[in-house]
Amino acid sequence: MQELTKIKEAAEFIKSKIPHVPEIAIILGSGLGILADEVEDKIEIPYSDIPNFPVSTVAGHAGKFIFGRLEDKNVLLMNGRFHFYEGYSMKEVTLPIRVFKMLGVKKLIVTNAAGGVNTNFKPGDLMIIKDHINFSMANPLIGRNIEEFGPRFPDMSNPYDKELIEIAKNVSKDIDVPVVEGVYFMLTGPNYETPAEIRAIRKLGGDAVGMSTVPEVIVANHSGIKVLGISCITNMAAGILDQPLNHEEVIETSMKVREKFIKLVRGIVSKM
Ligand code: HPA
Repeated sequence: MQELTKIKEAAEFIKSKIPHVPEIAIILGSGLGILADEVEDKIEIPYSDIPNFPVSTVAGHAGKFIFGRLEDKNVLLMNGRFHFYEGYSMKEVTLPIRVFKMLGVKKLIVTNAAGGVNTNFKPGDLMIIKDHINFSMANPLIGRNIEEFGPRFPDMSNPYDKELIEIAKNVSKDIDVPVVEGVYFMLTGPNYETPAEIRAIRKLGGDAVGMSTVPEVIVANHSGIKVLGISCITNMAAGILDQPLNHEEVIETSMKVREKFIKLVRGIVSKM
C-alpha cells in the first residue's frame, strides 16, 4: 500500500473516534505516561485498533492515544512511542507524526528520558531541548518525498520552536519548577553508551543522550508542526559516575519527577 494511503487510513480512523481537532499532541517518554491521568473527558484509542499502526513493545510504554482536555485545550497524548531499536523502520517510528498533521495538530510536545552528558546536570533535572544532533545514521525522510507534507530539503534551523521555548522558560519561573537547557544527542541504542562515546558526545556538543525523539522532530519540522522538547535526565550518562546503567533506574527517576513534570507540562499547555 502507498505510504500516503496508509497514513490517511490511520488518520481517518482516529478522526472517527474523536469529537474535536487536537491542537496539541504530546508524546510521553519512558515513565512519563502519568500525564494521561490528568486528561479530562478521555477517549482512549489503543494502537492495536488503528489500521496500519505498529505496536509498541518496551516495558513502561503502554501503547495508546488519549484524546481529551488538558488546561482547557484539546490534546492528543501518545502514551508509548515506537523506537528504531525495537526494529521498526524510521517510517514506522514517525507515522504518528504524519497522522497528527492530518488530524490538524499544530504543535507537538515531545518528552523523553535521557542520560545527562553535561556534568552540571543531575538526575531528576528537566531539560528544555534547544537543539539536537541526529547521530542515528538514519533519517525518516529518506525515500520519495511526500509533497503534501513538506519539501524535499526541509529547513531545520528552528527545530525546537523559539517561542515555545520562551513559553516553557517563563512557565518554569512562574511555577518555580526549574529547568535546564541543552542539546539532545540521539544514538539508536538499545545498549547504553560507553564512557568513550559519552566523552565524544560531550565534545560534539551534546548535553543529554537518548534513543528517541529526533526522528519525530525531523518529521514534525518537515510538515510545519512546531515542536517543544523536554528531556527528563534520569541518570548521569556512562562513565560519569562509577556505576552501571539500567532501565530500572531510568523508570525510577522519571517516577520521582512526575509531579514537577506534570506541573510544568500543564503550565506550558495552558500558555500555548
Ligand atoms: N543513554 C541513552 N538513553 C537513555 C539514557 C542514557 O544514559 N538514559 C535514559 N535514556
